[in-house]
Amino acid sequence: MNGDITRSQEWAALGKHHGELAGIRLRELFADDPGRAERMTAAAGDLYLDYSKHRATSETIGLLLALAERAGLRERIAAMFGGEHINVSEDRAVLHVALRMPRETRLVVDGQDVVADVHAVLDKMSAFSGRIRSQEWKGATGRPIETVVNIGIGGSDLGPAMAYEALRDYADAGIAARFVSNIDPADITGALAGLDPATTLFVISSKTFTTLETLTNARVARRWLVDALGEDAVSRHFVAVSTNAAKVAEFGIDTDNMFGFWDWVGGRYSYDGAIGLSLMIAIGPERFREMLAGFHTIDEHFRTAPFEANMPVLMALLGVWYNDFFGAESRAVLPYSQRLHRFPAYLQQLTMESNGKSVRADGTPVTAGTGEIFWGEPGTNGQHAFYQLLHQGTRLVPADFIGFAEPFEDREGMHDQLVANLLAQTSALAFGRTAEEIAGEGTAAEIVPHKVMPGNRPTSTILAPKLTPSTLGQLVALYEHIVFVEGTIWGVDSFDQWGVELGKKMALDLEPALTSAEPPEPSAATLPDPSTERLVRRYR
Ligand code: F6P
Repeated sequence: MNGDITRSQEWAALGKHHGELAGIRLRELFADDPGRAERMTAAAGDLYLDYSKHRATSETIGLLLALAERAGLRERIAAMFGGEHINVSEDRAVLHVALRMPRETRLVVDGQDVVADVHAVLDKMSAFSGRIRSQEWKGATGRPIETVVNIGIGGSDLGPAMAYEALRDYADAGIAARFVSNIDPADITGALAGLDPATTLFVISSKTFTTLETLTNARVARRWLVDALGEDAVSRHFVAVSTNAAKVAEFGIDTDNMFGFWDWVGGRYSYDGAIGLSLMIAIGPERFREMLAGFHTIDEHFRTAPFEANMPVLMALLGVWYNDFFGAESRAVLPYSQRLHRFPAYLQQLTMESNGKSVRADGTPVTAGTGEIFWGEPGTNGQHAFYQLLHQGTRLVPADFIGFAEPFEDREGMHDQLVANLLAQTSALAFGRTAEEIAGEGTAAEIVPHKVMPGNRPTSTILAPKLTPSTLGQLVALYEHIVFVEGTIWGVDSFDQWGVELGKKMALDLEPALTSAEPPEPSAATLPDPSTERLVRRYR
C-alpha cells in the first residue's frame, strides 16, 4: 500500500478488535474453543508451528490477513522474487532467495541470469572447500589446513558463526572454524591462541571490503602469519569473500582466491552464499547444499502457500499484532537447543538492522511502532535467568520456543527433560496459576499474591524433527520472511541500514583525539560535544 497503513480501515478494525479481545484470557479462549489447538497450527517443510497459545482468535487472524492484503503483501512477494528494485534507498534488487534456487531454474535480473551466477560461485566454493578438506591444498610449509579463521563482522560473521555452532556435528573433515569480528584486540588474540600459522587459513569476509574492524583484524592476522612464515605464504593462507575485487587485490589477496557475491544480497542475508565459505569448508559442500535446499523449501512455501497457512506470514502478523496493538516492545526467541546458542544474536542483526526504521520507503515518517526488539538465550539457561520477568513481570513479551524431537546424543534421558521444559514453559506462560489454585494448595494467604502466575503470555512453538543443515536453513528462511512481511506492513525499506553509518564515521573522526601527542583543545572540531570532550580527557 502506498501511504499510511495505520489510516486504513483494516488497521482500524484491528484496533477495535483489540479492544474486545484484550481482556479475554487464554484460559477462556481454550475453554470456549478446544479445537484451536488442532486448528491453529501450520506446517512448512519440516517445521511445525503451534500458534494456538496466542491472544488471537480466528477473527483476529482474518483481520490480520486482511491487513496483509491491504499492505500489498502479495505484490511485494512477487516483486522480491521477480528481482524488482525493492531496496529503494539503494536502488537494488533483493534476491537472497536466488542464493538457494536450484541450478535448473533461471532468474534474469537487470539482464543477467542470477541463478547461473550463484551456481558458478557455489561450484567455485565447492571445489575450493574440497581441496582444503581432502588436504590437496597445502599451506606454505606443505602441511594441510586444520583451522579456518573467518574474519568479518555483522552479516559477514554472525551467519557463518551461528551456523557453524549449530552444525558442528557435521564438521567431518577434522577442520575447525573460528570467528573474529570485534575491533577489541581481545577477539583476535583469543582466536589465534594455540593456532599454528602453518595450518591456518584466513577467510577475510567483507561485502564492501572497507569495514574498519575486518580490515584491521585482517592486517593483524597477516602480520602474525608473515612474521612466522614470510610474505610469500600469504597466498596459501588468505582468501577473500567480497563484492569488491579491487579492494581485495589492494589488500594483497589473489582475486583467483576471491569468492564473490552481488549488491542484491544484503550483508545480513548473505551466509547462504559465499559468506558461508568457512562453514562449507567445515561441513562440506554436500551438507551446505542440503542447507540451501532447506532455505529453498521455505522460500517456496512463502511464495506459494495461501496466507492463512503460510508460516512466515502468520508469525509476522502476530508480531505486528503484539507490537502495534498490545504495545509489546520485544520478542524473545528461545531455542531449546544448546547448538543454537548464537541464533538469537544472529536474528538480532537480521531483524533489527532490517526493520529498525522510522521512515517509510517513500521517506515519510512511520506512524506505528516498527522493529520488534529480538533477544533470547537457549532454554533451559534462560529459565534460571530472565523467565521470572516473562512469567510475572509487568511487560508483555511474546516468545518463540524452538525445539527438536531427535537428539544428537542422549544421556540419561536429558533430551526428554529438555523438551519437557519447553512444553511446560509455554503452558505455564499461557495458563498460569490463579490465586484460588494456589490457596487450594494450602499456601499462606499473605504468600498467595507472590505465587500467582498471571498467565496469558503468548508463545509460538516451533518443532522440527532434528537440527540438520536442512532444518537450520528452513529456520533462517522462516525468520527472513517474517522480517519481510513485517517490513511490508510497516512500509519500511527492510534492506538498507543507513543508521549504522554516522557512528562509524564519527569513530574515525574521533580517533586522533585519543592518540595525538597532545590532547586536543576543548574547542577542537574533532570533539563533537562537551560530554565527549570530557570523556576523551578522562580516557587520555
Ligand atoms: O555496519 C553494518 C554493516 O554494513 C552490516 O550491514 C554488514 O553486515 C556489516 O556492516 C559488515 O559489512 P561488510 O560485509 O561490508 O564488511
